[in-house]
Amino acid sequence: FAPSPQSNNISGEQNDSNLPTGRGWMSEHLVQYQGFWLSPKGLKNLMWLQDHFNPRPTDIFLASLPKTGTTWLKALVFATVNRTRHGFSDHPLLTTNPHDCCPFLDAYLHENDPSFLDQNGSPTPRLLSTHVPYALLPDSMTVNRSCRFVYIYRDPKDVLVSKWHFLSNLRPKELPPFPLEEAFELFCQGISHYGPYWDHVLGFWKASLEFPEKILFLKYEDLKEEPFVGVKRLGEFLGYPFSLQEERDGVVEDIVKLCCFENLRNLEVNRTSVHKFSRDSMCMVDNRHFFRKGIVGDWKNCLTAEMIKRLDGITSHKLIASGLLF
Ligand code: A3P
Repeated sequence: FAPSPQSNNISGEQNDSNLPTGRGWMSEHLVQYQGFWLSPKGLKNLMWLQDHFNPRPTDIFLASLPKTGTTWLKALVFATVNRTRHGFSDHPLLTTNPHDCCPFLDAYLHENDPSFLDQNGSPTPRLLSTHVPYALLPDSMTVNRSCRFVYIYRDPKDVLVSKWHFLSNLRPKELPPFPLEEAFELFCQGISHYGPYWDHVLGFWKASLEFPEKILFLKYEDLKEEPFVGVKRLGEFLGYPFSLQEERDGVVEDIVKLCCFENLRNLEVNRTSVHKFSRDSMCMVDNRHFFRKGIVGDWKNCLTAEMIKRLDGITSHKLIASGLLF
C-alpha cells in the first residue's frame, strides 16, 4: 500500500527496515516510528489506518494503552450507548467478550475486508478502539474533530505489572521466561507497545484540554472508586445522558454491575473462550487473560522500592508541567 504524507516514505512490507529497533517483550523486536514504539505488525496496521480509514462523524473511539483498562472501558461504553437496545437479563455482554463488541480498529480492519464495518450492519454510532498515539492518528480522525474519543489511563506502575503478567501468560513455552526486571527496564526506557507510556498519555491529555467536548479523559483508579460517576460522565459526554427516570430505575447501577470485574470475569465466555484479534490472524488470546486482578495498586506486590522510586520519578519528571495527576 502507498505511503501517506505522514508516513515519512515508509511503505508497505519492508517499511521498518530503516527504523531504530528496540528489544521486544516477546520474540519480535519493536520499531521506533515518529517517537513511538510499535511492533512491525502494529506499524503496518498504522500505515493502513493512515492511508485508508474513513471515519464517520458519529464514530466513537476508545483510545488507550494496553493494560490501562481497555476491556472494562469497552464494556462500559457498549452498555451505556446500547442501553435501550438490550435488556440486562439477556445482554450481549453476558455472552460476548467486550473486545468483540468494540473491535480494534487498526488490527481488525487491516487484516480483513476494510468494508467490514459498513457491511456488518454495525449500528450507529460505531464503537471502535485503538492503541495508536494521538500524534499518529490520521488527520481524518483528529483535524475535523467530528468524532469523539474516550481515553483511559492508569498508574504506570500497575500498567507495567499488568502487562508483564499478561505477556508472560501469552509467552510461547519454548521461549525462556521474561524477567520483570527486564520488562521494567524496557518500560522505563519507553520501549513498550505504543510507548513511551507517558508520551501516549500526554498526547491525548493535551488534545483533551484543547478539545474537551471531543475527548473525555478517564482514569482507571477514579472509575474503580466511583464507577457510577464515571458511567454518568460517559453517558453525558457521548450524547446519551441518563434521564432522571433511568437513574431512579437504577440503570446506571445495572451498567456498573454488568461491567464490573467480578461479573465479567466469571462469565462462561470470559472463562473459556478465545479472542481472535482478527479473523485470519494467528493472534489469539484466551479471554480469561483480560481479567487478572482488576485492582488498584497490585504493583505493591511486585515492584521493589527502587523500581517504585525510579518509575515515580519518571512520571513526575515527564508530567510536571502538564497538570495531569496520577
Ligand atoms: P490487572 O492485570 O491489573 O488485573 P486492558 O483491558 O487494557 O488490557 O487492561 C487489563 C487490565 O484491566 C487488567 O488489570 C484487568 O484485570 C483489568 N480489568 C479487566 N476488566 C476489568 C473490569 N471490568 N473492571 C476493572 N478492571 C478490569
